[in-house]
Amino acid sequence: MSAKKQNILLLGAGGRECTLAWKLKNSPLCGNLYISPGNAGTSAYGTNLSVAVLDFEGIRKICTDHQIDILLPGPEDPLVAGIYDFIKADPLLQHIIVAGPSKEGAQLEGSKAFSKKFMERHNIPTAAYREFTADNYDQGIEYLKTCPSPIVLKADGLAAGKGVVIAQNTAEALDAFRSMLRDRQFGDAGSKVVIEQFLDGIELSVFVLTDGTGYVILPAAKDYKRIGEGDTGLNTGGMGAISPVPFADEVFMRKVTDRIINPTVNGLKAENITYQGFIFFGLIKVGNEPYVIEYNCRMGDPETEVVMPRLDNDLIDLMLSMHAGTLSQVTVHHSQQAAGAVMLVSGGYPGDYAKGKVITGIENVNGSMVFHAGTTVRGTDTVTSGGRVIAITSYGDDIKQALAASYTNAARIHYEGRYYRTDIGWEF
Ligand code: AMP
Ligand code: GLY
Repeated sequence: MSAKKQNILLLGAGGRECTLAWKLKNSPLCGNLYISPGNAGTSAYGTNLSVAVLDFEGIRKICTDHQIDILLPGPEDPLVAGIYDFIKADPLLQHIIVAGPSKEGAQLEGSKAFSKKFMERHNIPTAAYREFTADNYDQGIEYLKTCPSPIVLKADGLAAGKGVVIAQNTAEALDAFRSMLRDRQFGDAGSKVVIEQFLDGIELSVFVLTDGTGYVILPAAKDYKRIGEGDTGLNTGGMGAISPVPFADEVFMRKVTDRIINPTVNGLKAENITYQGFIFFGLIKVGNEPYVIEYNCRMGDPETEVVMPRLDNDLIDLMLSMHAGTLSQVTVHHSQQAAGAVMLVSGGYPGDYAKGKVITGIENVNGSMVFHAGTTVRGTDTVTSGGRVIAITSYGDDIKQALAASYTNAARIHYEGRYYRTDIGWEF
Protein backbone atom coordinates (compact mmCIF):
# COMPACT_ATOMS: atom_id res chain seq x y z
CA MET A 1 0.00 0.00 0.00
CA SER A 2 1.83 3.05 -1.21
CA ALA A 3 -1.16 5.37 -1.51
CA LYS A 4 -1.13 8.63 0.37
CA LYS A 5 -3.00 9.00 3.63
CA GLN A 6 -6.64 9.80 3.14
CA ASN A 7 -8.61 12.47 4.96
CA ILE A 8 -12.00 10.99 5.67
CA LEU A 9 -15.40 12.36 6.60
CA LEU A 10 -17.71 9.78 8.12
CA LEU A 11 -21.36 10.84 8.46
CA GLY A 12 -23.57 9.57 11.26
CA ALA A 13 -23.78 9.11 15.00
CA GLY A 14 -24.55 5.49 15.86
CA GLY A 15 -22.88 2.24 16.78
CA ARG A 16 -22.28 1.58 13.10
CA GLU A 17 -20.34 4.83 12.76
CA CYS A 18 -18.34 4.20 15.93
CA THR A 19 -17.32 0.82 14.52
CA LEU A 20 -16.49 2.28 11.10
CA ALA A 21 -14.41 4.99 12.81
CA TRP A 22 -12.53 2.29 14.75
CA LYS A 23 -11.94 0.32 11.56
CA LEU A 24 -10.80 3.35 9.55
CA LYS A 25 -8.49 4.53 12.32
CA ASN A 26 -6.82 1.10 12.32
CA SER A 27 -5.66 1.65 8.76
CA PRO A 28 -2.17 2.96 7.97
CA LEU A 29 -3.89 4.86 5.15
CA CYS A 30 -5.98 6.92 7.55
CA GLY A 31 -5.09 10.60 7.51
CA ASN A 32 -7.36 12.97 9.42
CA LEU A 33 -10.64 11.36 10.35
CA TYR A 34 -13.73 13.49 10.98
CA ILE A 35 -17.05 12.17 12.17
CA SER A 36 -20.15 14.31 11.89
CA PRO A 37 -21.98 14.45 14.16
CA GLY A 38 -20.42 11.42 15.89
CA ASN A 39 -20.93 10.43 19.52
CA ALA A 40 -18.95 10.11 22.76
CA GLY A 41 -17.17 7.04 21.36
CA THR A 42 -16.19 8.26 17.90
CA SER A 43 -14.02 11.04 19.34
CA ALA A 44 -11.53 8.35 20.41
CA TYR A 45 -10.78 7.74 16.71
CA GLY A 46 -11.16 11.15 15.12
CA THR A 47 -12.58 14.63 15.44
CA ASN A 48 -16.31 15.04 15.94
CA LEU A 49 -17.94 17.90 14.04
CA SER A 50 -21.47 19.13 14.60
CA VAL A 51 -22.90 19.17 11.09
CA ALA A 52 -26.07 17.12 10.60
CA VAL A 53 -26.07 14.37 7.94
CA LEU A 54 -28.65 16.19 5.79
CA ASP A 55 -26.94 19.58 5.98
CA PHE A 56 -25.27 19.35 2.57
CA GLU A 57 -23.96 22.93 2.66
CA GLY A 58 -22.36 22.18 6.03
CA ILE A 59 -20.87 19.00 4.58
CA ARG A 60 -19.51 20.96 1.62
CA LYS A 61 -17.77 23.31 4.04
CA ILE A 62 -16.20 20.43 6.00
CA CYS A 63 -14.97 18.90 2.74
CA THR A 64 -13.23 22.07 1.63
CA ASP A 65 -12.01 23.23 5.07
CA HIS A 66 -10.46 19.82 5.83
CA GLN A 67 -9.41 18.69 2.36
CA ILE A 68 -11.50 15.55 2.53
CA ASP A 69 -10.50 12.72 0.18
CA ILE A 70 -13.17 10.16 1.07
CA LEU A 71 -16.77 10.71 2.19
CA LEU A 72 -18.40 7.72 3.85
CA PRO A 73 -22.09 8.23 4.67
CA GLY A 74 -23.10 5.83 7.45
CA PRO A 75 -26.91 6.10 7.35
CA GLU A 76 -29.23 6.04 4.35
CA ASP A 77 -30.77 9.50 4.66
CA PRO A 78 -27.99 11.54 3.04
CA LEU A 79 -27.67 8.93 0.26
CA VAL A 80 -31.40 8.87 -0.47
CA ALA A 81 -31.36 12.69 -0.39
CA GLY A 82 -28.60 12.70 -3.03
CA ILE A 83 -25.31 13.47 -1.27
CA TYR A 84 -23.42 11.60 -4.00
CA ASP A 85 -24.90 13.75 -6.77
CA PHE A 86 -24.38 16.89 -4.69
CA ILE A 87 -20.66 16.18 -4.29
CA LYS A 88 -20.15 15.14 -7.91
CA ALA A 89 -21.93 18.23 -9.24
CA ASP A 90 -19.53 20.59 -7.47
CA PRO A 91 -16.25 21.30 -9.31
CA LEU A 92 -14.48 21.87 -6.00
CA LEU A 93 -15.67 18.57 -4.52
CA GLN A 94 -16.06 16.15 -7.38
CA HIS A 95 -12.63 14.58 -6.85
CA ILE A 96 -13.84 13.24 -3.49
CA ILE A 97 -14.46 9.50 -3.31
CA VAL A 98 -18.00 8.92 -2.10
CA ALA A 99 -18.53 5.43 -0.70
CA GLY A 100 -22.21 5.25 -1.48
CA PRO A 101 -24.56 5.22 -4.46
CA SER A 102 -26.06 8.02 -6.50
CA LYS A 103 -29.52 9.24 -5.54
CA GLU A 104 -30.93 6.92 -8.18
CA GLY A 105 -29.04 3.91 -6.80
CA ALA A 106 -30.13 4.75 -3.26
CA GLN A 107 -33.71 4.18 -4.41
CA LEU A 108 -33.00 0.50 -3.84
CA GLU A 109 -33.56 1.43 -0.20
CA GLY A 110 -35.45 4.70 -0.57
CA SER A 111 -38.41 3.21 -2.44
CA LYS A 112 -39.86 -0.22 -1.80
CA ALA A 113 -41.75 0.00 -5.11
CA PHE A 114 -38.53 0.85 -6.99
CA SER A 115 -36.68 -2.07 -5.43
CA LYS A 116 -39.52 -4.52 -6.07
CA LYS A 117 -39.68 -3.49 -9.75
CA PHE A 118 -35.90 -3.74 -10.03
CA MET A 119 -35.98 -7.29 -8.65
CA GLU A 120 -38.81 -8.19 -10.99
CA ARG A 121 -36.86 -6.87 -14.01
CA HIS A 122 -33.80 -8.90 -13.05
CA ASN A 123 -35.54 -12.06 -11.90
CA ILE A 124 -34.23 -11.75 -8.36
CA PRO A 125 -36.16 -13.94 -5.91
CA THR A 126 -38.39 -11.90 -3.59
CA ALA A 127 -41.94 -12.04 -2.22
CA ALA A 128 -44.74 -11.56 -4.76
CA TYR A 129 -46.25 -8.10 -4.45
CA ARG A 130 -48.69 -5.44 -5.67
CA GLU A 131 -48.53 -1.69 -5.16
CA PHE A 132 -51.33 0.76 -4.44
CA THR A 133 -51.84 4.51 -4.05
CA ALA A 134 -54.83 6.74 -3.26
CA ASP A 135 -55.80 6.39 -6.93
CA ASN A 136 -56.49 2.67 -6.74
CA TYR A 137 -57.36 2.56 -3.04
CA ASP A 138 -60.57 0.58 -3.54
CA GLN A 139 -58.79 -2.04 -5.62
CA GLY A 140 -56.27 -2.34 -2.78
CA ILE A 141 -59.07 -3.02 -0.30
CA GLU A 142 -60.54 -5.70 -2.58
CA TYR A 143 -57.11 -7.22 -3.19
CA LEU A 144 -56.35 -7.42 0.54
CA LYS A 145 -59.58 -9.38 1.06
CA THR A 146 -58.21 -12.08 -1.26
CA CYS A 147 -54.75 -12.35 0.39
CA PRO A 148 -53.95 -15.24 2.72
CA SER A 149 -52.74 -14.16 6.18
CA PRO A 150 -50.31 -13.04 7.41
CA ILE A 151 -50.14 -10.11 4.99
CA VAL A 152 -47.15 -7.78 4.73
CA LEU A 153 -47.77 -4.06 4.09
CA LYS A 154 -44.94 -1.62 3.47
CA ALA A 155 -44.93 2.14 3.18
CA ASP A 156 -42.99 2.89 -0.01
CA GLY A 157 -40.59 5.50 1.38
CA LEU A 158 -38.24 5.82 4.32
CA ALA A 159 -40.16 5.53 7.58
CA ALA A 160 -37.36 5.11 10.13
CA GLY A 161 -37.78 1.33 10.11
CA LYS A 162 -41.43 1.60 11.18
CA GLY A 163 -43.09 1.41 7.77
CA VAL A 164 -43.61 -2.36 7.70
CA VAL A 165 -46.71 -4.02 9.14
CA ILE A 166 -47.15 -7.79 9.33
CA ALA A 167 -50.92 -8.12 9.64
CA GLN A 168 -52.08 -11.36 11.21
CA ASN A 169 -55.53 -11.21 9.59
CA THR A 170 -57.51 -9.34 6.96
CA ALA A 171 -59.02 -6.86 9.44
CA GLU A 172 -55.56 -5.84 10.69
CA ALA A 173 -54.34 -5.52 7.12
CA LEU A 174 -57.29 -3.30 6.13
CA ASP A 175 -56.62 -1.10 9.18
CA ALA A 176 -52.94 -0.73 8.32
CA PHE A 177 -53.74 0.01 4.68
CA ARG A 178 -56.22 2.74 5.68
CA SER A 179 -53.76 4.26 8.17
CA MET A 180 -51.03 4.50 5.56
CA LEU A 181 -53.05 5.75 2.58
CA ARG A 182 -56.03 7.59 4.14
CA ASP A 183 -54.68 8.80 7.49
CA ARG A 184 -51.18 9.33 6.07
CA GLN A 185 -49.60 7.70 9.12
CA PHE A 186 -46.15 7.87 7.52
CA GLY A 187 -46.77 11.08 5.56
CA ASP A 188 -45.46 11.02 2.00
CA ALA A 189 -43.48 7.83 2.69
CA GLY A 190 -46.84 6.03 2.80
CA SER A 191 -48.49 7.64 -0.23
CA LYS A 192 -47.68 4.41 -2.05
CA VAL A 193 -48.09 1.06 -0.30
CA VAL A 194 -46.56 -2.26 -1.27
CA ILE A 195 -48.53 -5.35 -0.27
CA GLU A 196 -46.53 -8.53 -0.33
CA GLN A 197 -46.61 -12.22 0.33
CA PHE A 198 -45.40 -13.27 3.78
CA LEU A 199 -42.22 -15.34 3.62
CA ASP A 200 -41.70 -17.78 6.44
CA GLY A 201 -38.04 -18.38 7.16
CA ILE A 202 -34.92 -17.20 8.93
CA GLU A 203 -33.34 -13.83 8.15
CA LEU A 204 -29.74 -12.84 7.58
CA SER A 205 -27.83 -9.84 6.31
CA VAL A 206 -25.32 -10.06 3.48
CA PHE A 207 -23.11 -7.11 2.53
CA VAL A 208 -21.05 -6.31 -0.51
CA LEU A 209 -18.89 -3.37 -1.45
CA THR A 210 -19.22 -2.79 -5.19
CA ASP A 211 -17.43 -0.57 -7.67
CA GLY A 212 -20.31 -0.87 -10.11
CA THR A 213 -18.89 -3.90 -11.90
CA GLY A 214 -17.00 -6.05 -9.42
CA TYR A 215 -17.57 -6.46 -5.71
CA VAL A 216 -16.30 -8.08 -2.56
CA ILE A 217 -18.55 -9.96 -0.17
CA LEU A 218 -18.12 -8.98 3.46
CA PRO A 219 -18.79 -11.36 6.38
CA ALA A 220 -22.49 -12.23 6.71
CA ALA A 221 -24.34 -11.35 9.89
CA LYS A 222 -27.61 -11.88 11.65
CA ASP A 223 -29.24 -9.21 13.73
CA TYR A 224 -31.85 -9.58 16.46
CA LYS A 225 -34.54 -6.98 15.86
CA ARG A 226 -37.11 -7.62 18.57
CA ILE A 227 -36.89 -6.01 22.00
CA GLY A 228 -37.78 -9.15 23.97
CA GLU A 229 -36.11 -12.45 24.71
CA GLY A 230 -36.94 -15.24 22.27
CA ASP A 231 -37.55 -12.70 19.49
CA THR A 232 -40.75 -11.31 21.01
CA GLY A 233 -42.19 -7.82 21.37
CA LEU A 234 -41.69 -4.69 19.31
CA ASN A 235 -39.17 -4.22 16.52
CA THR A 236 -36.12 -2.14 17.37
CA GLY A 237 -33.15 -0.85 15.44
CA GLY A 238 -31.40 -4.07 16.47
CA MET A 239 -30.53 -5.58 19.85
CA GLY A 240 -27.44 -7.56 18.93
CA ALA A 241 -25.71 -9.33 16.07
CA ILE A 242 -23.58 -12.33 15.28
CA SER A 243 -21.15 -13.24 12.53
CA PRO A 244 -20.62 -15.66 10.86
CA VAL A 245 -24.13 -16.98 10.28
CA PRO A 246 -24.01 -20.76 10.81
CA PHE A 247 -26.67 -21.58 8.21
CA ALA A 248 -25.11 -19.35 5.53
CA ASP A 249 -22.81 -22.14 4.40
CA GLU A 250 -20.97 -22.38 1.10
CA VAL A 251 -23.87 -23.96 -0.78
CA PHE A 252 -26.30 -21.31 0.43
CA MET A 253 -23.90 -18.44 -0.27
CA ARG A 254 -23.37 -19.76 -3.79
CA LYS A 255 -27.12 -19.45 -4.37
CA VAL A 256 -27.05 -15.95 -2.89
CA THR A 257 -24.18 -15.00 -5.21
CA ASP A 258 -25.68 -16.50 -8.36
CA ARG A 259 -29.32 -15.57 -7.87
CA ILE A 260 -29.10 -12.32 -5.93
CA ILE A 261 -25.73 -10.54 -5.80
CA ASN A 262 -24.68 -11.01 -9.44
CA PRO A 263 -28.05 -10.05 -10.95
CA THR A 264 -28.23 -7.02 -8.64
CA VAL A 265 -24.77 -5.67 -9.50
CA ASN A 266 -25.20 -6.53 -13.18
CA GLY A 267 -28.70 -5.06 -13.19
CA LEU A 268 -27.51 -1.74 -11.77
CA LYS A 269 -24.80 -1.61 -14.40
CA ALA A 270 -27.12 -2.56 -17.26
CA GLU A 271 -29.50 0.19 -16.21
CA ASN A 272 -26.69 2.75 -15.97
CA ILE A 273 -27.39 3.37 -12.31
CA THR A 274 -24.25 4.81 -10.71
CA TYR A 275 -23.47 2.69 -7.70
CA GLN A 276 -20.15 2.55 -5.89
CA GLY A 277 -20.69 1.63 -2.28
CA PHE A 278 -22.19 -0.88 0.07
CA ILE A 279 -25.20 -2.97 -0.81
CA PHE A 280 -26.92 -4.55 2.16
CA PHE A 281 -29.07 -7.52 1.17
CA GLY A 282 -31.71 -8.23 3.81
CA LEU A 283 -32.34 -11.88 3.01
CA ILE A 284 -34.61 -14.62 4.24
CA LYS A 285 -33.89 -18.32 3.90
CA VAL A 286 -37.10 -20.17 3.09
CA GLY A 287 -36.42 -23.91 3.09
CA ASN A 288 -32.96 -23.81 1.59
CA GLU A 289 -33.60 -20.96 -0.82
CA PRO A 290 -32.63 -17.29 -0.41
CA TYR A 291 -35.11 -14.44 -1.06
CA VAL A 292 -34.60 -10.70 -0.80
CA ILE A 293 -36.69 -9.01 1.90
CA GLU A 294 -35.14 -5.62 1.28
CA TYR A 295 -32.14 -3.77 -0.03
CA ASN A 296 -30.31 -1.09 1.91
CA CYS A 297 -27.78 1.26 0.37
CA ARG A 298 -25.44 1.29 3.40
CA MET A 299 -24.07 -0.96 6.10
CA GLY A 300 -26.39 -2.34 8.79
CA ASP A 301 -26.55 -1.43 12.43
CA PRO A 302 -25.80 -3.45 14.61
CA GLU A 303 -24.41 -5.79 11.92
CA THR A 304 -21.46 -3.47 11.28
CA GLU A 305 -20.42 -4.02 14.89
CA VAL A 306 -19.63 -7.66 14.03
CA VAL A 307 -18.91 -7.42 10.29
CA MET A 308 -16.08 -4.86 10.51
CA PRO A 309 -14.27 -6.68 13.33
CA ARG A 310 -14.33 -9.83 11.15
CA LEU A 311 -13.15 -8.08 7.99
CA ASP A 312 -9.40 -8.54 7.85
CA ASN A 313 -8.93 -6.28 4.80
CA ASP A 314 -8.09 -2.63 5.19
CA LEU A 315 -11.32 -0.69 4.66
CA ILE A 316 -9.61 2.36 3.19
CA ASP A 317 -7.73 0.17 0.77
CA LEU A 318 -11.07 -1.38 -0.25
CA MET A 319 -12.60 2.04 -0.83
CA LEU A 320 -9.60 3.05 -2.98
CA SER A 321 -10.04 -0.15 -5.01
CA MET A 322 -13.73 0.68 -5.31
CA HIS A 323 -12.83 4.06 -6.73
CA ALA A 324 -10.28 2.51 -9.10
CA GLY A 325 -12.83 -0.08 -10.26
CA THR A 326 -10.57 -2.98 -9.29
CA LEU A 327 -12.62 -4.72 -6.59
CA SER A 328 -13.04 -7.85 -8.70
CA GLN A 329 -9.29 -8.39 -8.33
CA VAL A 330 -9.30 -8.05 -4.55
CA THR A 331 -9.30 -11.09 -2.29
CA VAL A 332 -11.37 -10.51 0.77
CA HIS A 333 -10.33 -12.10 4.07
CA HIS A 334 -12.88 -12.96 6.73
CA SER A 335 -11.52 -13.65 10.19
CA GLN A 336 -11.65 -17.24 11.43
CA GLN A 337 -12.84 -15.80 14.74
CA ALA A 338 -16.56 -15.39 15.38
CA ALA A 339 -17.95 -12.10 16.69
CA GLY A 340 -20.98 -11.40 18.85
CA ALA A 341 -22.43 -8.00 19.73
CA VAL A 342 -24.88 -7.18 22.50
CA MET A 343 -26.70 -3.84 22.42
CA LEU A 344 -27.32 -2.00 25.68
CA VAL A 345 -30.43 0.16 25.34
CA SER A 346 -32.37 2.73 27.35
CA GLY A 347 -35.25 1.59 29.55
CA GLY A 348 -38.53 1.94 27.65
CA TYR A 349 -36.92 1.70 24.20
CA PRO A 350 -38.25 1.30 21.46
CA GLY A 351 -41.04 3.34 23.06
CA ASP A 352 -40.38 6.52 25.05
CA TYR A 353 -37.20 6.57 27.08
CA ALA A 354 -35.21 9.05 29.16
CA LYS A 355 -31.91 10.56 27.99
CA GLY A 356 -29.01 12.05 29.91
CA LYS A 357 -28.39 9.07 32.24
CA VAL A 358 -24.79 8.91 33.45
CA ILE A 359 -22.93 5.86 32.15
CA THR A 360 -20.33 4.25 34.42
CA GLY A 361 -18.09 1.21 34.27
CA ILE A 362 -16.87 1.45 30.66
CA GLU A 363 -13.30 1.43 31.98
CA ASN A 364 -13.95 -1.99 33.56
CA VAL A 365 -14.62 -3.66 30.21
CA ASN A 366 -11.92 -6.21 29.56
CA GLY A 367 -11.58 -8.40 26.47
CA SER A 368 -14.39 -6.79 24.46
CA MET A 369 -14.76 -3.78 22.22
CA VAL A 370 -17.07 -0.95 23.24
CA PHE A 371 -18.85 0.77 20.35
CA HIS A 372 -20.86 3.79 21.40
CA ALA A 373 -24.27 4.39 19.82
CA GLY A 374 -26.54 6.84 21.69
CA THR A 375 -24.00 8.54 23.94
CA THR A 376 -22.78 12.06 24.39
CA VAL A 377 -20.42 13.95 26.66
CA ARG A 378 -21.82 16.21 29.39
CA GLY A 379 -19.12 17.92 31.40
CA THR A 380 -16.87 15.12 32.59
CA ASP A 381 -19.59 12.45 32.20
CA THR A 382 -20.58 10.19 29.32
CA VAL A 383 -24.37 10.15 29.26
CA THR A 384 -27.07 8.36 27.27
CA SER A 385 -28.55 10.25 24.32
CA GLY A 386 -30.50 7.63 22.40
CA GLY A 387 -32.46 4.40 22.55
CA ARG A 388 -29.55 2.19 21.60
CA VAL A 389 -26.69 3.24 23.87
CA ILE A 390 -23.64 0.99 23.53
CA ALA A 391 -22.75 -2.16 21.62
CA ILE A 392 -20.31 -4.59 23.24
CA THR A 393 -18.56 -6.80 20.67
CA SER A 394 -16.25 -9.72 21.38
CA TYR A 395 -14.34 -12.28 19.40
CA GLY A 396 -14.46 -15.99 20.18
CA ASP A 397 -13.67 -19.36 18.69
CA ASP A 398 -17.39 -19.65 18.09
CA ILE A 399 -20.47 -17.48 18.53
CA LYS A 400 -21.23 -18.80 22.02
CA GLN A 401 -17.77 -17.97 23.30
CA ALA A 402 -17.85 -14.51 21.70
CA LEU A 403 -21.24 -13.73 23.23
CA ALA A 404 -20.21 -15.03 26.66
CA ALA A 405 -17.44 -12.42 26.71
CA SER A 406 -19.83 -9.71 25.53
CA TYR A 407 -22.28 -10.59 28.30
CA THR A 408 -19.59 -10.56 30.99
CA ASN A 409 -18.64 -7.07 29.92
CA ALA A 410 -22.18 -5.81 29.32
CA ALA A 411 -22.84 -6.42 33.04
CA ARG A 412 -19.94 -4.10 33.92
CA ILE A 413 -21.57 -1.05 32.34
CA HIS A 414 -24.23 0.77 34.32
CA TYR A 415 -26.78 3.52 33.85
CA GLU A 416 -30.30 3.98 35.11
CA GLY A 417 -32.75 1.93 33.05
CA ARG A 418 -30.10 -0.17 31.31
CA TYR A 419 -31.60 -3.11 29.41
CA TYR A 420 -30.22 -5.74 27.10
CA ARG A 421 -31.39 -9.05 25.75
CA THR A 422 -29.64 -11.99 27.38
CA ASP A 423 -30.35 -14.42 24.53
CA ILE A 424 -28.58 -13.02 21.47
CA GLY A 425 -27.47 -15.96 19.34
CA TRP A 426 -29.86 -18.25 21.22
CA GLU A 427 -30.46 -20.56 18.25
CA PHE A 428 -26.84 -21.48 17.76
P1 AMP B 1 -38.09 -4.31 5.80
O1 AMP B 1 -38.13 -2.88 6.31
O2 AMP B 1 -38.61 -4.46 4.42
O3 AMP B 1 -36.78 -4.95 6.05
O4 AMP B 1 -39.04 -5.15 6.77
C1 AMP B 1 -38.82 -5.17 8.16
C2 AMP B 1 -38.98 -6.55 8.68
O5 AMP B 1 -40.29 -7.06 8.38
C3 AMP B 1 -38.02 -7.55 8.05
O6 AMP B 1 -36.79 -7.56 8.67
C4 AMP B 1 -38.78 -8.84 8.25
O7 AMP B 1 -38.61 -9.33 9.57
C5 AMP B 1 -40.22 -8.44 8.09
N1 AMP B 1 -40.66 -8.68 6.71
C6 AMP B 1 -40.62 -7.79 5.70
N2 AMP B 1 -41.11 -8.33 4.56
C7 AMP B 1 -41.46 -9.58 4.85
C8 AMP B 1 -42.02 -10.66 4.09
N3 AMP B 1 -42.37 -10.53 2.81
N4 AMP B 1 -42.24 -11.83 4.72
C9 AMP B 1 -41.94 -11.97 6.03
N5 AMP B 1 -41.42 -11.00 6.79
C10 AMP B 1 -41.18 -9.81 6.23
N1 GLY C 1 -30.01 -3.92 11.20
C1 GLY C 1 -30.84 -3.53 10.14
C2 GLY C 1 -30.53 -2.25 9.54
O1 GLY C 1 -29.47 -1.66 9.73
O2 GLY C 1 -31.36 -1.76 8.78
